[in-house]
Amino acid sequence: MAVSVRQMSADDAQAFLEVHRAAVHGIAAHDYPPAVISAWAPLPIGDELIQDVRANRDDESRLVAEIGGQIVGIGSLVAKNAEVRACYVVRTASRKGVGSTLLREIERVATELGLSSLQLDSSITAEPFYAANGYEVRERGEHILGSGVPMACVKMYKTIGS
Ligand SMILES: CC(C)(COP(=O)(O)OP(=O)(O)OC[C@H]1O[C@@H](n2cnc3c(N)ncnc32)[C@H](O)[C@@H]1OP(=O)(O)O)[C@@H](O)C(=O)NCCC(=O)NCCS
Repeated sequence: MAVSVRQMSADDAQAFLEVHRAAVHGIAAHDYPPAVISAWAPLPIGDELIQDVRANRDDESRLVAEIGGQIVGIGSLVAKNAEVRACYVVRTASRKGVGSTLLREIERVATELGLSSLQLDSSITAEPFYAANGYEVRERGEHILGSGVPMACVKMYKTIGS
């Protein structure tokens, strides 16, 4: 079935978090210790987390990808930092081009906003995915999660819109 991408609405906040949790616990958990996984994607998803997503403090441009009306992927751009903040796909929909479709749309929006490059902190898990989509490694290091827990990451970048 075809993948479609649209802007996330306030009503999608719970689904947005569910896809994030499913991708981290279902895919990235192979590459990180349990303490990192639970700090990266805390469960359960309660009202406070949903309100936090809706508050959108970093002014993210958020997208959801659907297959057959089901949200199976999420993506986000923080334009002020020229940053791809998120790209997550549930395991049952992985390797079908959902993540790449989200990334292409993020890049289209970024180009429209006048950005000429994008940067991101990739998980170890997602490095081959971003590499397949033209992102290059700047350095390997640590990303500090909101809770203060460090996780191994790969800092990557791509020139866009040329
Ligand atoms: C990384 C992620 C977003 C990829 O989503 P996806 O929809 O499966 O990716 P795509 O189908 O568009 O993959 C495109 C290409 O990327 C590469 N790729 C994707 N996942 C890969 C993997 N696990 N191992 C190796 N290459 C991979 C492949 O070249 C793939 O093309 P192919 O399937 O024809 O071989 C998804 O696996 C995910 O959510 N992972 C866990 C969470 C995470 O770490 N997210 C990133 C946070 S920074």
